[in-house]
Amino acid sequence: MDRAAAFAALEAHRVDIAARRTVDFFAEDPQRFDHFSVRLDDLLYDYSKNRLTRTTLGHLIDLARASRLDERREALFSGEKVNATENRPALHMALRNFSGGPVRVDGEDVMPAVEEVRARVAAFANAVRSGAIRGARGDSFTNIVNIGIGGSDLGPAMAARALSPFTSPELRAHFVSNVDGADIADTLAALDPATTLFIVSSKTFTTQETMANAASARAWIASALGEAAVGDHFAAVSTRLDKVAAFGINPDRVFGFWDWVGGRYSMWSAIGLSLAIAIGPEHFEDFLRGGHEVDEHFRLAPLSHNIPVLMGLIGVWHRNIWGFASQAVIPYDQRLARFPAYLQQLDMESNGKSVLRDGSPSPRATGPILFGEPGTNSQHAFFQLLHQGTEIAPVDFLVAAEPTHADDAHHALLFANCLAQSEAFLRGRTEKEVRELLRAQGLSAEQIDELAPHKVFSGDRPSSTFLYRQLTPRTLGRIVALYEHKVFVQSVIWDINPFDQWGVELGKELCSRLAPLVSDASADLSGLDGSTAGLISTRRALRVA
Ligand code: F6P
Repeated sequence: MDRAAAFAALEAHRVDIAARRTVDFFAEDPQRFDHFSVRLDDLLYDYSKNRLTRTTLGHLIDLARASRLDERREALFSGEKVNATENRPALHMALRNFSGGPVRVDGEDVMPAVEEVRARVAAFANAVRSGAIRGARGDSFTNIVNIGIGGSDLGPAMAARALSPFTSPELRAHFVSNVDGADIADTLAALDPATTLFIVSSKTFTTQETMANAASARAWIASALGEAAVGDHFAAVSTRLDKVAAFGINPDRVFGFWDWVGGRYSMWSAIGLSLAIAIGPEHFEDFLRGGHEVDEHFRLAPLSHNIPVLMGLIGVWHRNIWGFASQAVIPYDQRLARFPAYLQQLDMESNGKSVLRDGSPSPRATGPILFGEPGTNSQHAFFQLLHQGTEIAPVDFLVAAEPTHADDAHHALLFANCLAQSEAFLRGRTEKEVRELLRAQGLSAEQIDELAPHKVFSGDRPSSTFLYRQLTPRTLGRIVALYEHKVFVQSVIWDINPFDQWGVELGKELCSRLAPLVSDASADLSGLDGSTAGLISTRRALRVA
């Protein structure tokens, strides 16, 4: 069977089950929860609340086979140049490899170099934490500021927040990313240069935002402590060691990685230095080990019990067969507040493509728009649309069995809210049920006629739930790796390259042309489109200074 035939079989199957509801599937199969969930010891993936049956799964697995998922996965893990447009492998799994076996790039085992950088990161993190490495005036560092953007920011920033119970109040991590000067100004306002360590994180060491923020940070240190202090207050992480040297950072504080690590897959590399300092190298290693466990699961588990494979296929079922254009990710875990933002880059920069690997137009929809906010806050913001809007957005819920804070009463409420939402999405409320309720409340027939349509919930809005014991470094590593491989699985089904990101280039290019026209108030704007020219001249007119 080829891919087109597998998609056609899924289309036909959707028509077959379109009149049936997921609640009916639960009624027909009392063991549906067991049949449609997978456990990876203390992490459970429950996908039973999606409108699908065993037949659906059979068709989806046929699609995976037709797309040669096995072969593509093998190509990924064996270091083939799966990122063809940049002529590189995508081997972030090597960064969290603890198998003891080699990982080869162009025939060379990269593990000795990976382990060497890992050990240097751990030693540096320990030295900063213990006060063995100090600032220019001899003070221990109390604040670390990671300067980076995209993959050089979102992963560590998300994880440092998620794992805050593993950090110490004596050493705080901050993340500056935006070229908007407010970001660095607001961050530095509360900090003392004598106790602040900057880590400039940039794969390319050319990214405009990061270079601008690094220059401002350098000036802040130099003006407070003198130019000679810069070396003591900076470290850097990059693949471009030549460019780091030109910036003037001490070579023994420079941590390298490799072009086979994509930016959005780089938090496992030395890009995680700020995180390693914040949570300590042992916890950072637990995070890496969690990721490695998922790599093993993804490589070895049968397709029908393989969590990232199921996540990816169910996403394809929603996106291509049901036409759902968006995907919500709702952590009922406040410390995962930045997880949706992190996933937006992972998923949308990877699978937001319109051409196939061979350059021809994609015949079908690819990556959905991903969004999310923690529950319960999101319930009071956009859940109205999720329950009753005309768009259906499948939801991933994430929730712990046990909190990392002490208050169990709060956690019981949080957990109940999470389940209440997924139950409401599943069940909905029919007009008949609404009318009965309103009648029981004593409303008149006229009032019931008026109100009833507004109180109906269609139900059958799909959701999946990840339930993990506790948000530890290992759990977080597992969750991140699950989503990474889910994104990969979908790219295989859609036959796109998830490892390049040419779509970010045009804006960067145009910005370098526009920046001089914005900063020079007398620059000639002819040649620009009317809107762009009009906005620049209005900015000029509106500025007082
Ligand atoms: O936004 C594009 C991008 O290239 C991302 O893929 C990357 O994570 C980010 O910019 C930052 O790049 P760098 O680490 O090279 O500064």
